[in-house]
Amino acid sequence: MAYFAVSSHKTAVKVQKGSNAAGKHVTVPAVVVSRRGRFTVTERRVITNVASPIKEEWQVNLHGPTQEVMRGDLPGLVTVEEVRALEAELDSGAGVEALRRFNKALRAVPADKWEAVLRPVFNELCFNLESFNPAFAACLLQVQRTIGVSDYVRRDMALKNLIQPLAGEYGMHNNQPQLKTHRELFSDFFMSLFGYPLPQLLADSPAPAAAQLLYSQMMRDILGGGGHEDPLAQASYALGYNLAIEYLADYEKTWMLDSFRDLNARVLKKDIDWIFLEVHAEGEAEHAAIGHNAVLNIVPTEHASILRAAMADHDRDFAVFYNRMAELMEGH
Ligand SMILES: [Fe+2]
Repeated sequence: MAYFAVSSHKTAVKVQKGSNAAGKHVTVPAVVVSRRGRFTVTERRVITNVASPIKEEWQVNLHGPTQEVMRGDLPGLVTVEEVRALEAELDSGAGVEALRRFNKALRAVPADKWEAVLRPVFNELCFNLESFNPAFAACLLQVQRTIGVSDYVRRDMALKNLIQPLAGEYGMHNNQPQLKTHRELFSDFFMSLFGYPLPQLLADSPAPAAAQLLYSQMMRDILGGGGHEDPLAQASYALGYNLAIEYLADYEKTWMLDSFRDLNARVLKKDIDWIFLEVHAEGEAEHAAIGHNAVLNIVPTEHASILRAAMADHDRDFAVFYNRMAELMEGH
């Protein structure tokens, strides 16, 4: 049994590559793409966060296009290379630039008023982090709505990928008892940092205007299918949008974990419950790979421009949100 490290993090993530019944169906390798490395797998992957093996251990099944999906009598699908090129555009996009600004501000939070500076940020993040759950559900729904339009196997394979990150938000992972939801993990993180429960912050805070704006934009765009009429074009748009969410989330959570650790070492000096940020920092690369494989199973080659438009839409609105988060911390 071979193990492949897929992360340079202190909390090592290992990919267990072994023989598995699912491998029989895979004729085109599932593709794992992350800015930390690129490799292919053909079997089930087992991801283990070894820092907390009992509480957070999960399995991700990546479903790449099978021979049935690639049947010659069906329309051609977008290629791995096309999707990678689209993802690469995000590397130099507005979203990553906003994250750079946000993390710089987070590391510079002053020691004497860290709580006052971070409270409005956490009020926004709390809403924002949960708001991706309905966004994921909406992306899944748009693929399901191609019933009668898309090929059954293609639709099914895309959904087999997409269901996993959504279920994971609620603590459900393959071959595991149900764990804490990500909302619960965020509450634990908050409590360990601030020393009082999250509902107390929410009760004393105004409406999280920036997070609510991003949420409304995400739902408008995904459920509106990018303005297309055809259900498959709407699904392609939703899959591109999902891809951008997951791809940027990989940057977002990894960076955020590093910045909070830095802030804690310098200013807070607390015994922080890092699990929320750790599972996301380690898990988002896998989620991005899942979103990537969902696209490869169903998006027709002529919809590459729809993917691109969807990714640009999310990049733009995500950037506005994180620039606002940076503003909340700057100038103190
Ligand atoms: Fe999450």
